[in-house]
This record gives sequence, C-alpha cells and structure tokens, in this order.
Amino acid sequence: MILSPSLLSANFCQLGTECDALASAGIPWLHLDVIDGMFAPNITFGTPVISSLRKVSDLFFDVHLMVESPSRYLEDFAKAGADMLVVHMEAETHLQRCLARIHELGMRCGVALNPSTDISALRWLVPDMDMVLLMSVNPGFSGQKFLPMVEGKIMAVRELLDANGGKHIPVQVDGGVCPENIGQLVQCGADIFVSGSAFFRHPPYRQRLESFTNAAGVSHREAASVCSQWKSRFARV
Ligand code: DX5
Ligand code: ZN
Repeated sequence: MILSPSLLSANFCQLGTECDALASAGIPWLHLDVIDGMFAPNITFGTPVISSLRKVSDLFFDVHLMVESPSRYLEDFAKAGADMLVVHMEAETHLQRCLARIHELGMRCGVALNPSTDISALRWLVPDMDMVLLMSVNPGFSGQKFLPMVEGKIMAVRELLDANGGKHIPVQVDGGVCPENIGQLVQCGADIFVSGSAFFRHPPYRQRLESFTNAAGVSHREAASVCSQWKSRFARV
C-alpha cells in the first residue's frame, strides 16, 4: 500500500517544512488537491504553490485536478513539476486525448470518479491511464465522512481493470480514509490511500504512517519497499 497524504490538511503557513517532515517520516508521495471553485465548491491552490514546493521537495507529486476542462492547464502543471495528473471523468469531454497529452508531457496520469459516477467507461481508457482514483467523499473539502458504498465500487473497478488488460493499474481511494477503515479497503482491492485530516491531525508523522500501515496489515518495511517501487515505476519520463 501507498499512503499519499493530502496537502489540503497540512499547515499552509509552512508548506515547505511540511514536505520535509513527510520525507523524513519515510513518506514518498504527496497528494495535491487543486480545486477551481467551479468543479467543486472550494478554491485551494494552483501551479504557483506546486512550483514553489517542487524547488524544495523530491516527493512524488500526485496532483488531483478538481477543475473544469483540465486539458487547458496540462502544460502549466508539467512546468510546475507535477509527477502525475489525475483528471475527473466528469470534468473533461475528450478524456482520451487529455490522458495522451499528459503522457506526451512526460507525466503519469490518472482518472478520477466522483462517488456517483458509473465505472463502465474506464474500460475504454485502460491503455491510456496509469491509475484510477475513486472518490469516497464528494469533492471539495477534507474532513468528510467516508461513503461506505465505495467499498463495492473498489471491488467492481478492480474486477473491470483485471478483465480488460489493466491488472497493473492501481486503484487510489480518496476521502475519509483512516486507520479504522483502511484494512477493509485493502481487502476490497485498493492500493493507494489518500489521507488528509486523519493523517495530519495526528503527528508525529512517522508514527501516524505506522498506524495506517499496521491497520492495512502490512509491515512498515513492506510498505516502504512498495512505495519506492511505485515511485520508480511512476517516475517522469
Ligand atoms: C477532497 C480531496 C481529498 C481530501 C481528503 O476534495 O480530494 O483529497 O483532501 O481529505 P480527508 O482525508 O480529510 O477526507
Ligand atoms: Zn484528492
């Protein structure tokens, strides 16, 4: 499993220091929630914050774009230093072209689905995507409650990917993930876990990472090796 802490719950007065603290705690991924106030009812941060952090951090930047028509901004996020761009199926009309362009720009790409969005179209995107993100809250804010119906959806997506040549594609779950539910989500077939409030509200980060990995049923050592495997597999090309 990989834990990808969401910057939205970090201390915004000290984002560089927060990145250093994650790296020292043995966490290689960072989830960056970019929201435009249109796709979801909140405005967070954009490329200036990401490019500033890129200068001081080697973390893998897993950038979750909750913006309308994200294809307008792909070059900007590539320049800012994103390693992976995750775009919402509901936000982009020409999704395949958008994913292909993200690859051309040297980044990894993922497709995100809101809790109520049907999964069937994912089948046609298997050759073009590196990850599926399943929202387990409605996008906009951290600190919301996990929607239990997403458990069945994780299983259905895993089955769909496996049946259509996408065994290698990991499933990320985002929203309301905590040590109390991560074990069940691993059982359902999820691989990568975003956590905002349940992670950042409980420092120190190394111990908190251990609470997540222990609850997921993997040793800290195993988790670290899986993380570094994914990091090199997902490195910018
Ligand atoms: C919601 C974001 C999530 C959120 C997760 O729009 O996509 O990444 O920050 O926060 P928690 O873990 O607190 O639900
Ligand atoms: Zn997110």
